[in-house]
Amino acid sequence: MTPLELAVVIPTFNERGNVPRLVAALDAALAGRAWEAIFVDDNSPDGTADAAREIARGDPRIRVIQRIGRRGLSTACIEGMCATSAPLVAVIDGDMQHDERLLPRMLDALQGDAALDVVVGSRFVDGGGTGEWDRDRVAKSAFATGLSQRVLKVKLSDPMSGFFMVRTALVRALVPKLSGIGFKILLDIMTASPRPLNFRELPYVFRTREVGESKLDYFVALEYLIALYDRRFGRIVPVKFAMFAGVGALGAVVHFAVLWPLLQMLHIAFLPATIVATGVAMTFNFFLNNALTYREQRLRGAGRLLAGWISFCAVCSVGAVANVGLAAFLFDVQHSDWRFAALAGIAVAAVWNYALSSRFTWGR
Ligand code: GDD
Ligand code: MN
Repeated sequence: MTPLELAVVIPTFNERGNVPRLVAALDAALAGRAWEAIFVDDNSPDGTADAAREIARGDPRIRVIQRIGRRGLSTACIEGMCATSAPLVAVIDGDMQHDERLLPRMLDALQGDAALDVVVGSRFVDGGGTGEWDRDRVAKSAFATGLSQRVLKVKLSDPMSGFFMVRTALVRALVPKLSGIGFKILLDIMTASPRPLNFRELPYVFRTREVGESKLDYFVALEYLIALYDRRFGRIVPVKFAMFAGVGALGAVVHFAVLWPLLQMLHIAFLPATIVATGVAMTFNFFLNNALTYREQRLRGAGRLLAGWISFCAVCSVGAVANVGLAAFLFDVQHSDWRFAALAGIAVAAVWNYALSSRFTWGR
């Protein structure tokens, strides 16, 4: 038996109709090579994993990892790459948009040059293309690519590409440094490596999706920005804390937006108006943090949401008392500048709220 040369990792979510087509395409493209394919499916409701298992029963080259209660393209790819004993591993989308006919050439390149770390399928070198993308999508992609140059040490023409082949041992060594956030697994790998990786680019034309739907939405775009932030500043200010603080700043805006009409238009006394504004801002912050900052452990269902909301308000109330207490102490007793006193109070409350709510409201 020829030893295993290559694993092809295929992240899937609701790609049932594409599974048999992709397996047939891989079978044709990789004829004569010793390969396996690993579908990493996040428990797709359309039964993608079942479709893959059905083929796997008659074809031992096909493997399936079914993740329950998890979502994420990058983490799926990471788990798939760690699950093979093949020396080389490729990642390819499960929707036939990447050109699997490039795989043998990627394989030859890596097998023929021991100094090469990774081969990237690129839409932006001669011979490549974005196919039927409209101008809007081309512009968005160009913008995202431009942003990526801020974290990349090497000049990749298509760092957004989700189509590449790499040495398995190299990825395995990098796993502890990968953020796993969002869609951009290649960018994650390239920027996690302490030394610039040796890469080669091969052109391909991005195909139009014929079956199923794209999962790229505004949220994925936001995740991309979060991932970039994490690479640049994550070690100084952790991404979760930055998001929590950003949500808190929005909460302050909400607070004023409620307080102002209560005082100026309805002429309600300051104390009750402030209590109402605080309650609205806390509730706003709770739901926004639940949807964004803590989306991976998001609380669902009325009972858990209510319990979470109560614990969040309790934590923040203590934070508010600490905020006011410290600010007043600095201002009244230490005679600090009022701006410094206010900022110190806010900073202490933010750290307190973050530390305790991540433990008690969203902790498990
Ligand atoms: N396991 C898992 N979990 N797979 C996922 C998830 C997830 O949460 N989200 C998406 N996928 C799978 C899809 O099923 C598909 O096989 C592949 O990841 C790509 O997802 P699409 O939803 O088709 O993304 P796209 O075509 O809009 O974007 C692709 O092309 C871009 C090129 O601009 C991705 O490869 C991007 O990374 C790439 O930048
Ligand atoms: Mn796609």
